[in-house]
Amino acid sequence: MSATELDKLRERPAHGESLGGYRAVLRSMERWYFRSPASRFFAWLMSRKARHLYEYAADQLGGLPDGSRLADIGCGHGTFLAIYLSRHPNVRGFGLDQSGELIKFATAQAREAGVDAEFLVGDVHFAKLPEKAFDAMVSTSSIYCWQDPVQALDNLYDALKPGATFLLWEVLRADTLRDWWSMLFDLKVYGLSLPSYTEAEMRDFVARSRFKTAQVDIDRLFIRFTFTRPVEDDPSVIATTVVVSEGTASAGSAV
Ligand SMILES: C[S@@+](CC[C@H](N)C(=O)[O-])C[C@H]1O[C@@H](n2cnc3c(N)ncnc32)[C@H](O)[C@@H]1O
Repeated sequence: MSATELDKLRERPAHGESLGGYRAVLRSMERWYFRSPASRFFAWLMSRKARHLYEYAADQLGGLPDGSRLADIGCGHGTFLAIYLSRHPNVRGFGLDQSGELIKFATAQAREAGVDAEFLVGDVHFAKLPEKAFDAMVSTSSIYCWQDPVQALDNLYDALKPGATFLLWEVLRADTLRDWWSMLFDLKVYGLSLPSYTEAEMRDFVARSRFKTAQVDIDRLFIRFTFTRPVEDDPSVIATTVVVSEGTASAGSAV
């Protein structure tokens, strides 16, 4: 192989980038699917068969003080909120999703579970959320559908109280046969996440957002970003202690 051929190989896009411009199309198709009645199948499957994933996220978030407000961004069928709020009945839940179909499912599920949650149909990039309203925020496997994650993160920033944390999980793309096996039979993640962003892209979004930085933890195929809105952002706050609960993740680094 000649040196030029070798250079070309080196220039090949990193893992996960080979779908190039098609990923934007795939993202639009995903959003369209989630808005369609066909998404009820996804809601049924995940709410029945993937509860372990939401329990995993609830364990990592841990307890919040009584009266706290928790937002789930891209909440879909609302299973995370139903599970978390059943465990912590003194926390008030809020779910945002662009799909009216899934919000209907989430509302019914919350009612059935008897938990305190309200829901809004809206797009994470533009939704008018109350300012400095939430003590904590989560998002599970939704960022891969967002067209402009920097804009979306900036929009969410204002809704967090100064000092509040935002935990965002995504499933990394399965690369090897072992990853696929683990994804389907061990973790039981029922999604291909084909148009997902790479780890490097997500780190870049964080750096360009108003959060600027986040703690990054990787556990098997899960990547978790822990954002904190700085306290010094709010001149009315004189001194507050920020407590970030320790995750069970295996590796940690900051963007
Ligand atoms: C794979 S589902 C995950 C749902 C849920 N968080 C879970 O873990 O089961 C992705 C969700 O993100 C929502 N979503 C995608 N793009 C969005 C956007 N721009 N604004 C709000 N929600 C969005 C979809 O409607 C869908 O419910």
